Amino acid sequence: SGQLPQVMNWRFPMLIKRRPSWALSESEVTPESVYLNRRKFMAGTMASAAALTMPALLKAEEGGIPGDALQYKAMPAFSTDEKKAPYPAITSYNNFYEFGTDKGDPARYADAMSVDPWSVSVEGECAKTGAYALEDLLKPHQYQERIYRLRCVEAWSMVIPWVGVPLAEVLASLQPTSKAKYVYFETLHDPDQMRGQRSMFSVIDWPYREGLRMDEAMNELSFLAIGLYGKTLPNQNGAPIRLVVPWKYGFKSIKSIVRIRFMEERPKTSWEMIAPEEYGFYANVNPEVDHPRWSQKRERRLPSGLLSPNWIETVKFNGYGEQVAHLYKDMDLSRYY
Ligand code: MTE
Repeated sequence: SGQLPQVMNWRFPMLIKRRPSWALSESEVTPESVYLNRRKFMAGTMASAAALTMPALLKAEEGGIPGDALQYKAMPAFSTDEKKAPYPAITSYNNFYEFGTDKGDPARYADAMSVDPWSVSVEGECAKTGAYALEDLLKPHQYQERIYRLRCVEAWSMVIPWVGVPLAEVLASLQPTSKAKYVYFETLHDPDQMRGQRSMFSVIDWPYREGLRMDEAMNELSFLAIGLYGKTLPNQNGAPIRLVVPWKYGFKSIKSIVRIRFMEERPKTSWEMIAPEEYGFYANVNPEVDHPRWSQKRERRLPSGLLSPNWIETVKFNGYGEQVAHLYKDMDLSRYY
């Protein structure tokens, strides 16, 4: 109990921590006031990780948050009113192994990925297979803002205001057949643009893969995000389109999606392929089922610092049990973790 991730085998970066992930300093996760007030920013946070987000911060100075403005409808019924993580925190502390395993690597390197034009291949058990320009896939749908908790398996969490469309709407428009029992997703595989995919030390068999059971995918909470704080997603957060499944550990929320495949069989997914005894297919947030090497009873709500580590209790299904517990009513979640 109360065990934190420890230094592990170098071959398993999500498992190892060169520097423990919980040792995030105040200067790395910059308070919102900082990017809204340049003088305070200059005076207060010239630390390395803040410096790496400088371009974003300076653009933010010019007109708020960088990116293209999106038109969307707020969805209070699908949003928490907990304090949102500031934009610089959400965009400078990331997991996106395609760009490296350090939390700062995605912000540093993800701009090498070009996201326009973007095409998504739709395959398998559905009527509307084919290659879709992202605009065409999104066109029929109205954008929504949903403020969700994101709880990483590494025991940190953030509150993030996403903009996007319900996954169920997009999947229904592709007309799955009765054989579709699962839906599978893949991230872009392009080592020329993704330096982490060129690395000899990568443990992931690229592309990054994820999947959901069909009833999970059709749940009203499952979301395809295209934006953050009302603007298009920055690359490090999975531009131009990524999954958000708020009751599951963050690794299910696959970024920069290029393939959607409806399947009869359960797909193989990246972290399950790497360490099946540590990362399951279901990956529901669950304080009753510890990771083999650390407790899942608590999480650090970011931003936090050494002086205010901000540990909070982890809630089953990340607090979304009312919407999703029925999906698992006959399942032993210690077995199907
Ligand atoms: N998607 C891809 N393609 N590659 C990744 O390494 N990391 C996952 C998930 N999606 C990852 C990914 C993990 S472990 C987490 S916690 C979330 O993305 C982090 O999302 P964020 O950086 O937007 O907070």
